[in-house]
This record gives sequence, C-alpha cells and structure tokens, in this order.
Amino acid sequence: MQSMKVIFVLALTLATASALRSRLFGAPKPLEGEELETAKVLLTSTLEELAAGEGPKYEVITVTSATRKVVSGSLDTFVVELSNGSENKDCKVQIWSQPWLKPLGTGTNVKIYCQDDEVVERTW
Ligand SMILES: *[C@@H]1O[C@H](CO)[C@@H](O)[C@H](O)[C@H]1NC(C)=O
Repeated sequence: MQSMKVIFVLALTLATASALRSRLFGAPKPLEGEELETAKVLLTSTLEELAAGEGPKYEVITVTSATRKVVSGSLDTFVVELSNGSENKDCKVQIWSQPWLKPLGTGTNVKIYCQDDEVVERTW
C-alpha cells in the first residue's frame, strides 16, 4: 500500500513537472495587459532600428495579435498591419530576443513576412 502511495506521488510530481515545462517551453502564450504593451514597444523599436539600418522601413498600423513563446530567450510573434510608406500590408513579425547575446551582436533576430514582399530577416 505504501509503495502505491509513493508511485502515485511520484507520478503526480512528474506530471506537474512536465506540465510546468510545457508551459515554459511549449505553446505560444497570447500577450495581454502590461506584457502586451511591452511587446508593442519592442515591436516599434525593432522596426525603427531596422529602418535606421539597411531597412526596409515599416511602420505599425495595427497589432491584431501578439504571442510569446519561451525558447532560448523569448520569441514574440505579432500579426500586424504594417505600412511601407505607401501601402498597408498584412504581415507577421517574429522577434527573437536573446539579451545575453547582445555583446556579440546577435541579441535580436527579426523576421518579417508581408504579403507580396520578400521575407526580411535581420540579426543585430
Ligand atoms: C510598398 O509596397 C508596394 C507594393 O508591394 C510597392 O509597390 C512600393 O514600392 C512600396 N513602397 C516603398 C516605399 O517601399
């Protein structure tokens, strides 16, 4: 009987641990409230940095959704409407932040997928 109890507790512990792990490293989590605002600031400043560099120049019109996935760092995915200065486009933007790699110049990786445009990928 005692051993059954031990097995049960062990199984419960493992289940909890794996649920925790999949919450940390699993499915993307929709961002809301404070986190959403912070993510929008990240989106805007990332697009500004891109425009200040080799481009292209995109401006955020609306953010339809934003999710975050914890990977090695955090991967934020935005469904947005962007303007390239003359046209608005439906786009997906992924920003992968690994702040500890900043000194190596690879702390930020951004990918922008817009309808009719080539995929833009930059790392800095
Ligand atoms: C914006 O996108 C449109 C359609 O893809 C393109 O024709 C136009 O040249 C772009 N404008 C700029 C400023 O890049």
